[in-house]
Amino acid sequence: MLGSDLMSRLGGDHEVVGKDIEDFDLTSFASVRDVVEEARPEVLINAAAYTDVDGAERDETRCFAVNALGVENVVRACGPLAVCVVHISTDYVFDGTKGSPYTEEDSPSPLGVYARSKAEGERILISGGGDYLLIRTAWLYGRHGRNFVRTILDKARAEGRLAVVSDQFGSPTWSWDLAGAIKHLLENNHRGIFHVTNRGSCSWYDFACKILSYAGLEGVKVEAIPSSRLDRPAPRPPYAVLSGRKFNTVTGRTMRPWQLALREFVAKMARNGVMNDLT
Ligand SMILES: NC(=O)c1ccc[n+]([C@@H]2O[C@H](COP(=O)([O-])OP(=O)(O)OC[C@H]3O[C@@H](n4cnc5c(N)ncnc54)[C@H](OP(=O)(O)O)[C@@H]3O)[C@@H](O)[C@H]2O)c1
Repeated sequence: MLGSDLMSRLGGDHEVVGKDIEDFDLTSFASVRDVVEEARPEVLINAAAYTDVDGAERDETRCFAVNALGVENVVRACGPLAVCVVHISTDYVFDGTKGSPYTEEDSPSPLGVYARSKAEGERILISGGGDYLLIRTAWLYGRHGRNFVRTILDKARAEGRLAVVSDQFGSPTWSWDLAGAIKHLLENNHRGIFHVTNRGSCSWYDFACKILSYAGLEGVKVEAIPSSRLDRPAPRPPYAVLSGRKFNTVTGRTMRPWQLALREFVAKMARNGVMNDLT
């Protein structure tokens, strides 16, 4: 999802080579090294990950192979060639109990397997000693791949009623906006850790209601439920909102509010007929 939007946003102004798992398998050092040595990029952006949060609880080995060992392979391949590594991480590295937005100085406190694997990937990147930009983001949706917006619209159409969790809070973020922010950080040579999400926060329930409203589906009944009702394998942070203050201060920019991004996304998808379900 994010990788495709990065290709679109960076491609116009930069020479970008996109690689998929067939010729760039993060879990194989030889595969990563060969691609890096052939392309000799200034920057390598790792938008790949094992992202099945619940699946990770059953498949810890695979999850760590991609999200932790994969980062080690990237760091090992990029270090000798002085390639800057841009790596994407997650609000899930925090346990969500702080009660206020997490800053870049807060220490990770991951809860589940996916969260621990992402925290380990971060640790490997930071301790690797090379040039890096580490972006933590959250609640991504976008044009490509499965995501919450698509799921809500599909379910609303198929079932006409929804039950959505109202006790977990985060910041819905359009991968297109995130890709633009990463482009800006790179073009201005920023390095280190940055928290980047669309501005503001809400519960999954609020998010679902806004999706339906922007899609003109206000008639669909949405029930607010506690997360305990879903009995998901992986624990989730209850309030993993990321502070955008450092991004604002360093770049002089603010990310737009999540509602504005979502409204544009839903309108665009409907216009392009990508989500036929919207009409
Ligand atoms: N989605 C969110 O809500 C969210 C929130 C916070 C942070 N993030 C982070 O943001 C980044 C991008 O997420 P996304 O939602 O865009 O992910 P995504 O759509 O799931 O894309 C991840 C891609 O990585 C690929 N991949 C898996 N294993 C690989 C391997 N061994 N070598 C190379 N590629 C591999 C996957 O290929 P297959 O499809 O073939 O498996 C998939 O195309 C990830 O680091 C994720 O942890 C995501």
